[in-house]
Amino acid sequence: MNILVTGGAGYIGSHLVDRLLSVGHQVTVVDDLSVGKMANLQRHLSDKRFRFIEGSILYPTMMDELMKDCQLVYHLAAVVGVKYYVEDPLKVIATNVRGTEVVLELAALHNCRVVLASTSEIYGKSSQIPFSEDGLRVLGPTWVHRWSYATSKALDEHLAFAYARRGLQVTVIRYFNSYGPRLDPRGYGSVVAKFIIQALQNQPFTVHGDGQQTRCFTYIEDSVEGTLLAGGEEKAIGEVFNIGNSQETSIQELAELVKELTGSESSTLHLPYQEVYGPGFEDPPRRVPDTSKANILLGFQAKVPLREGLEKTIAWFRSRQ
Ligand SMILES: NC(=O)c1ccc[n+]([C@@H]2O[C@H](COP(=O)([O-])OP(=O)(O)OC[C@H]3O[C@@H](n4cnc5c(N)ncnc54)[C@H](O)[C@@H]3O)[C@@H](O)[C@H]2O)c1
Repeated sequence: MNILVTGGAGYIGSHLVDRLLSVGHQVTVVDDLSVGKMANLQRHLSDKRFRFIEGSILYPTMMDELMKDCQLVYHLAAVVGVKYYVEDPLKVIATNVRGTEVVLELAALHNCRVVLASTSEIYGKSSQIPFSEDGLRVLGPTWVHRWSYATSKALDEHLAFAYARRGLQVTVIRYFNSYGPRLDPRGYGSVVAKFIIQALQNQPFTVHGDGQQTRCFTYIEDSVEGTLLAGGEEKAIGEVFNIGNSQETSIQELAELVKELTGSESSTLHLPYQEVYGPGFEDPPRRVPDTSKANILLGFQAKVPLREGLEKTIAWFRSRQ
């Protein structure tokens, strides 16, 4: 297949590209390198089945050229990471909403199937745990910029389903805190990257709040497997899936595990949210996926336990020291 990966120089995108090329597809990546790195794709630059285009998804003429003869697009390009939502919400909204509009409109025009990367942030601070795809979304006020990302992705999903009504073959996947090699400390699963870097430098773990908030950390191999199933399975068309591991871990427990696995002497430094992200910032206390739908329709099941995934991730960070 001719496959386009938007944001393919980024963390998840580059791992997805590795897998797509390994099973014989022709892959084009478009990435503006605002966050993504060529180093993530270096090994493919001499492969004739691989093409890299540096550019923004916000340019419809360029995107039209790229999507004309592609059968499937994995749309991952976005502004990702709490730091960015708080600092530049306008960029978040413009990239995530306008960029997705460009991709969906051209996909509909050229009859190209789409897998749209969405997020567990969609559920906001809902207390309906675990989060199921048809569950509530509970977000805070619009003047608190941290909600701009969840809102932009929700609008992306609405757009996707609106295009689906007009015949577009589209699947939405909601990732839950992916982590693994190539993780960028500025990005979404940044707490894992930050803790590993702090541990390797024997610096204190900076824990936001009391550290009792939980997340479900999903190793990159599982995130990519779910993505591929969403793009390959006929039953996935027109559907939305949680892609995550359901093992719940508090941020404090994560710090302790990273400390144990690295043999670090780091202590823990608790920082109030308001001090880090400004007034009105809220962090959902728990974020747990219900993955039964992905399991039944896609055969998806996260396999890599946190300890094993962290060991591999730590080894990657060590190899870069
Ligand atoms: N990592 C996670 O745990 C997680 C969780 C939920 C959702 N997601 C979603 O998965 C996708 C990939 O996330 P990631 O963690 O790999 O993030 P990432 O920041 O590593 O990747 C995003 C890529 O998009 C590129 N990009 C940004 N704006 C662009 C533009 N205008 N044109 C072209 N490229 C552009 C960046 O350079 C980057 O390479 C995103 O859509 C994100 O919202 C990720």
